[in-house]
Amino acid sequence: MCGVFGIIYAQDTNELGNTLIKGSRKLVYRGYDSAGFAAFQDKGSTLLRKGPGMLEEIIRKENISEFTGSRGIVQLRWATFGEPNLENSQPHYDSDKDIIGAHNGNIVNTEQLIEEFTQEGMTVRGTNDGEMVVHAYEKFYNQLHDPKQAMMKAQTILQGDYAFICGNVNQHQLLAVKMGSSLYMGVGDTFIVCSSDLGSILQFTRNIVFLKDGDLVLYNDSEYHIFDIHTGKEIQRPVEECTINIEEANLVGFDHYMMKEIHEQPKKVQELHDLLENTQSNMDDCIDLINQADHVYLVASGTSYHAAVVGAYYLNHLAGIHAVPVLAGYFNEYYNVSPTAKDVIFCVSQSGETKDVINVINPILHNTSAKIISMVNVIGSSITQKSEIVINVAAGLETSVPATKSYMNQLFAFLYLATYAGSKKKLDKAQEIHNQLSQIPNLLQETIDQVKEEAKEIADLLVQRGSDLYCLGYGIQYGTALEGALKIKEVYYKHCEGMYSSEFKHGPLSIVDEGYPILFPASPADDHMVISHINEIRVRKGNVIVISPQYHGYMKAASRIVAVPDSDHYFIPLTTVIVLQLIAYYASIQAGLNPDFPRNISKTLTVD
Ligand code: BG6
Repeated sequence: MCGVFGIIYAQDTNELGNTLIKGSRKLVYRGYDSAGFAAFQDKGSTLLRKGPGMLEEIIRKENISEFTGSRGIVQLRWATFGEPNLENSQPHYDSDKDIIGAHNGNIVNTEQLIEEFTQEGMTVRGTNDGEMVVHAYEKFYNQLHDPKQAMMKAQTILQGDYAFICGNVNQHQLLAVKMGSSLYMGVGDTFIVCSSDLGSILQFTRNIVFLKDGDLVLYNDSEYHIFDIHTGKEIQRPVEECTINIEEANLVGFDHYMMKEIHEQPKKVQELHDLLENTQSNMDDCIDLINQADHVYLVASGTSYHAAVVGAYYLNHLAGIHAVPVLAGYFNEYYNVSPTAKDVIFCVSQSGETKDVINVINPILHNTSAKIISMVNVIGSSITQKSEIVINVAAGLETSVPATKSYMNQLFAFLYLATYAGSKKKLDKAQEIHNQLSQIPNLLQETIDQVKEEAKEIADLLVQRGSDLYCLGYGIQYGTALEGALKIKEVYYKHCEGMYSSEFKHGPLSIVDEGYPILFPASPADDHMVISHINEIRVRKGNVIVISPQYHGYMKAASRIVAVPDSDHYFIPLTTVIVLQLIAYYASIQAGLNPDFPRNISKTLTVD
């Protein structure tokens, strides 16, 4: 999704262009199809260069490094309202070009505003919703001549979620608003900066103000004032030192962030285990809420949903908790019997900004007293601010759009939670597994070392055949199959359907012809059903590639077995997903694609 970044210095500086470039490069991973840079200069002039296309090309073509000024805004746009062209690129001027602003978000009444502002005589240049935020501010600034009052009125006619930054040419300050989309503020020695993305600020300062929805900020180079956008009252928010290690954002010898982050998994699980061991009171609170609940819904999208599917298996089997995974996008349609105070909505989201999940939370917060728990990778994100309890998966900055280490840490967090909850109920298996969790980092490292070459061979085989494929999973491995299929779709662009293996014979089996590839992550504990499902395919000459600990039953049935190290049944989702991550990565490279920034998709989707 889009990203916006706005910085202010005491006076004009030749460094402004380079600073905006650095800020913009940290927004790339969020996905974009156009970019724009704006500068305000002390003598009241402005610069605005923008357009569709790749960021580095725009930087070069528009000589952004030569931008000078005391204030600057950069925005990377991922098109939702309005096609990716010059007029719809952000930032935007107001009608008479003395205001410049940009947003990240989703103004759902854009069409209506275009009509209204056009009828009111404003110069509406495109169909992008970000431009409507600028005109809404312009409308009331021209009436009230006061930035804070103007923004307070503007938000009353804007429907949807957004984060907005703008400036007036004749006032040495910037205005920023957080209304449902991520926005952080960094307080430096000679500047203050607001941005959608924490990482883009941390390269300049670690002094962070975690803004909250409804915050309206007026800031210059040395001071800031935060107001409640509804009441106008000033709010105090502390400056906190943020210690995330931004070194992680470098490639450190890998060709792509995706490969780097796959290799980081053992270390990140280790760090998470240490964190959870030291914050068990948070887990105690979480378990208390869950144990009292009539219903526990695990609500998520994309990869996080797949983690929720595995997490539901863990909670059911290890803690006797009937947790139900639900896709965020259809929760309100299929679970519209309002949750009660005795229900828990357990949100799983790497970014903590996914709109589909926020669309579940908001009505519940407004209409019910159900409890919200969230499991996220970005503390301070919108979803965490709406949660009673937050579990931090602590995977560090995940730059590659396809989730890998954040998924692994979500799985580990669920395994820790389930075995801890089961231990408190004196369930033997839970206690046994909980005591073995410290072995997982080494198990993951052993897996990476053991399967890397074979994963590459499988990828070559898939690319040579060039067809679509299926990824099947049974029991504990259903979430793994869904996640493996998504990785392949995301970075290799071939269709791969993830499916519960017992369903495959109910129709999809017809797709199998000689050599048709089927990936089958499996646990030996499920051999009875898995062998039956493999045979249904093998007798029709399908090519079944099982991913599992070495197991004679699978050796005989499958065309091939990619063996992961032996481990307990409950650890197999963690080891086998590494094989699927690597297969997807190598297939992407073999196909000449870029696994880090796949076309069309984005790391953080704050749109409906
Ligand atoms: C998609 C990402 O936009 O959002 C996926 O491309 C991700 O990788 C999904 O799994 C859900 O995002 P989040 O932040 O809620 O886990």
